[in-house]
Amino acid sequence: MNGRFHRIRGRGILWLTLLTLGLAAAGCRRSGPETTPPSPPRDLTDFPPVESVPGAALERLRPVALERGRRIAAEAFTVLSGELRRALEAGGFTNAIRLCSVKALPLTRLVGDTNQVRLRRVSHRARNPANQADTEELRIIECYQEMLAEGVTNLAPVVVQPATNRITFYAPIVLNNPLCLACHGEPGSTLLPQAAELLPQLYPEDRATGFRLGDLRGLWRIDFTPESLTNASPAGAEFPAAAASPGN
Ligand code: HEC
Repeated sequence: MNGRFHRIRGRGILWLTLLTLGLAAAGCRRSGPETTPPSPPRDLTDFPPVESVPGAALERLRPVALERGRRIAAEAFTVLSGELRRALEAGGFTNAIRLCSVKALPLTRLVGDTNQVRLRRVSHRARNPANQADTEELRIIECYQEMLAEGVTNLAPVVVQPATNRITFYAPIVLNNPLCLACHGEPGSTLLPQAAELLPQLYPEDRATGFRLGDLRGLWRIDFTPESLTNASPAGAEFPAAAASPGN
């Protein structure tokens, strides 16, 4: 085992801190490079990569979709990273990979069900084929990747309404935590040897290795109906609006 991760595994506090930093680093608004005067905010909301239906409720409902989307994605992140932390504590990376492989999808679904939305974690390079991004999601991913390539580090979530009855929140998942590389990094370097050995057994079509810090790993996707955004918040979802941004 790689010495650095051996230490990480032994010191729960360290990777908990890394996870927290990762969450805090996920940002909200696109801004220009520091050396030039601030440019007007340009984010995917100004140039949505997915066309919205004309005359629909989007403009009015966007703020509530953003607020609720951020909160639900943050909640799902907390649930998944808590599970990861407990699994690492209980049995190290091999145990964590096994547990993730059976629990990640049901837990994500559960958070969606509790909030009465359809919640997904999707990727252009999915580990679990069930998380493979579709055409619409790939378009959003490409835009975020372009922004990252331009040096934008603070990517904002975006809300689109491609159909009358669907308002969708997307938030980028940027791989900004060294812990993620243990299971998503480069084979022979940042990817842990145990992960390199176990992952192909569980995921013969794994496409989710070879990532580097700062890469886009995927998206949170949350589908709302316009009616659900007009109504009061679902029970149990009364967290502070700015609780956290949906990182990874
Ligand atoms: C202990 C290993 C492990 C660590 C550490 C880990 N992941 Fe994963 N990740 C997995 C496994 C296993 C899956 C597949 C889960 C499934 O089958 O639903 C996965 C799936 C994902 C997915 C869903 C898309 C896909 O490829 O199926 C995203 C997004 C993701 N991970 C991001 C991250 C980020 C960001 C971090 C760091 C905070 C991270 N992961 C840390 C093992 C890990």
